[in-house]
Amino acid sequence: MAVILGIESSCDETSASICINGEIKSNIIATQAIHAKYGGVVPELASRAHQQNIIPTVDQAIQQAKITKNDVDAVAFTRGPGLLGSLLVGTSFAKSFALARNIPLIDINHMQAHILAHFIDDPKPNFPFLCLTVSGGHTQIVLVKDYFDMELIGQTLDDAAGEAFDKTAKILNLPYPGGPLIDKYAKDGNPNAYKLPEPQIADLNFSFSGLKTAILYLVQAEVKKNPNFLDEHMHDLCASVQDRIVTILLNKLKKAAKQTGVRDIAIAGGVSANSGLRKSLLEMGDNYNWRVFIPKFEYCTDNAAMIAIAGYHKFLKGEFVDQEVAPLARIPM
Ligand code: KG4
Ligand code: ZN
Repeated sequence: MAVILGIESSCDETSASICINGEIKSNIIATQAIHAKYGGVVPELASRAHQQNIIPTVDQAIQQAKITKNDVDAVAFTRGPGLLGSLLVGTSFAKSFALARNIPLIDINHMQAHILAHFIDDPKPNFPFLCLTVSGGHTQIVLVKDYFDMELIGQTLDDAAGEAFDKTAKILNLPYPGGPLIDKYAKDGNPNAYKLPEPQIADLNFSFSGLKTAILYLVQAEVKKNPNFLDEHMHDLCASVQDRIVTILLNKLKKAAKQTGVRDIAIAGGVSANSGLRKSLLEMGDNYNWRVFIPKFEYCTDNAAMIAIAGYHKFLKGEFVDQEVAPLARIPM
């Protein structure tokens, strides 16, 4: 038996999960509503909210899995990358839990965990596979050779894909986080209504800052002519923005698949919840004969189930850390 408690606190979600022998039994997520009125995550408020949420969230995860604290064999926690103050709460909690119960402690890289979420449910990808990891802080194409052997082959040079969604949403006067709202409004919009630029970058890297500027100039010029422009054209604007972000992402993924010859293709991270991206990836998969892997919605955005499953695979390898471990705001892949 291996009962793993997973803890995630890298940004603005406090989450706890129980994984028993590789099966997720609970995945509790406490979302922090406080940041919406500031238009983005406020680090100090995030760490305070983690402190309030961590104990009830872990209690609930243990209860829902129908076990007790005494049954937990190891604690896995997000060590980074993320906001240092937020990471500190999860790390300190995990360390004290492991110390008090005298059980092993397992450190997890948040970006690897997003990818390892593909090992929660069947069908699972075969190694090596490619994963496009797209979140609020990262945009990466990763060649996944084994559970903890991952090579970064492409990344963003400026904004992350999630940031591109959230920053353009802000220009469109939508509240934070704007990604899910752009997705919602895009559903009844025309993706070809506005022509937006595709950056010309030769390798597998991404850039989204030009897109943001293009939308800003477009909106400023149109609102000058018609003050109701945003309200009248919201759906078309969202559809055009989303379509451009999705094509930028998928064109690079196509290129990576061609270069590596890999045909098991996965997406991960908060932006993989985007319905336009999911739909276009499935179509591309059909065209190129890929096996496409898309996580369930609850395993796309930040969650502790991905930490617990990653912890389970480290537990099998016997890879533990001691009480000296500290969180890191940045960790390489
Ligand atoms: O992975 P995640 O939950 O947190 C980070 O580690 O960053 O990703 C959050 C990002 C935010 O930028 C949010 O706007 C974006 O994922 N996101 C979406 C959607 N759902 C979440 N973007 C576009 N469409 C969505 N449906
Ligand atoms: Zn994340």
